[in-house]
Amino acid sequence: MEQEPEWIVKKAVDALGFDKVAEHLGKNARTVRRWIAGQTNASKSDLMVLEQLCFHLYKSSPRNQDFTFIDLFAGIGGLRKGFEAHGGNCTFTCEWDEYAQKTYRANFDVDHELAGDINDIVGDIRQHIPSTPDVLLAGFPCQPFSIAGVSKKNALGRPHGFECKTQGNLFFHIASILQELRPPAFLLENVKNLERHDKGNTFRVIMDILEKELGYKVQYRVIDAKGFVPQHRERVFIVGFDGITDFSWDDFQHPGPDAKKLRDILLPDSEVDSKYTLTNNLWTYLQNYAAKHKAAGNGFGFGLVGKNDTARTLSARYYKDGSEILIDQGEGKNPRRLTPRECARLMGFDDDGKEFIIPVSDTRAYKQFGNAVVVPVISEIARIMKPHIMEVKERRAKQCSQQYSVQQETLTMPSMQPQVPENQLKYAA
Ligand SMILES: C[S@@+](CC[C@H](N)C(=O)[O-])C[C@H]1O[C@@H](n2cnc3c(N)ncnc32)[C@H](O)[C@@H]1O
Repeated sequence: MEQEPEWIVKKAVDALGFDKVAEHLGKNARTVRRWIAGQTNASKSDLMVLEQLCFHLYKSSPRNQDFTFIDLFAGIGGLRKGFEAHGGNCTFTCEWDEYAQKTYRANFDVDHELAGDINDIVGDIRQHIPSTPDVLLAGFPCQPFSIAGVSKKNALGRPHGFECKTQGNLFFHIASILQELRPPAFLLENVKNLERHDKGNTFRVIMDILEKELGYKVQYRVIDAKGFVPQHRERVFIVGFDGITDFSWDDFQHPGPDAKKLRDILLPDSEVDSKYTLTNNLWTYLQNYAAKHKAAGNGFGFGLVGKNDTARTLSARYYKDGSEILIDQGEGKNPRRLTPRECARLMGFDDDGKEFIIPVSDTRAYKQFGNAVVVPVISEIARIMKPHIMEVKERRAKQCSQQYSVQQETLTMPSMQPQVPENQLKYAA
């Protein structure tokens, strides 16, 4: 039976190639290939050696220096990837899901605290984040705000949005962290529906807190990732700066809605395992379900797409039946789901020539990518934010040094020097 290859093996091979990894372990490159293919398993001691190796490799990689950021509700690090691409250095991460943490650790050099539940850090923020970051990033959980979340919670007779004490109040935690740390800038991300939730009240409260209570200059925009990747995915992005800047969403460059099609991210048929093809039962069920809804005048149905199309939004529920994005495999064949690797590509997580490591099961991977942000969209936002982050940073540094020289001057003015009586000077030294 095929085994899931250990992510640490993939990470080492990613960095050094098969031959070097094999040499390091005193093994044959073929053995390492078999591990990667999931045909055999590496021993515990080999894995430990590789863990050490990776630790040193990634530790010694040059670090970004331009600005620092913290990554809240980090998921698998989509925001981080976009900001690292523009010179950002992550100094703190918060994500409570252990499987998301596993993927995060597999792909990033986590040499800082990776905290779990945010509720556990808000009471003691400086203890966890001692130095002020330049940017706060947070893709805060969207479930209480999304249409699906709202209807599900309504159906259950439960409150939603801010009234939801367990998850809706997470925005208030972000507000406390902004208040305590006062970073020069922030980027928040949520589902498009946040804008209209509760007839616009939720969004109004959020903007009021950010602008009026915290005093940030805030601008937001809904962006569709379609064109950056072949997926229709609209999200609202809220950017704030501590002070006036020339930041404008008009600088955001979109490649155009047709720049990418599914053919750009699909794997060759020969590389797709037959397990991703829908069973006759599931395919029949989905077709009947769609027909029933059509007859009732509802638009519900599956999203059957081909190589030249754009997919619907990948959701965290994709693992259930895959119905929102089904790949047409031609006459006489049932459609198939996307593979996790294709999901990584659909969300822009695979860089040119470098694959994002997927160290978890298919189900977990579908959930993680379905919850994530589209990396090239974030990278473009980071690009247009960066000059203004640097500007606010420099402005602050100048203010600090001015304040410092005023203090120094004040101290050197005779009348301002501490008046220590002659006879006490020896104690003052
Ligand atoms: C919308 S996802 C963010 C995804 C992320 N932007 C990415 O690119 O992968 C929200 C994340 O918040 C995490 N989360 C939810 N409640 C949390 C809490 N109380 N403390 C820490 N993390 C939490 C979830 O596990 C989820 O991964």
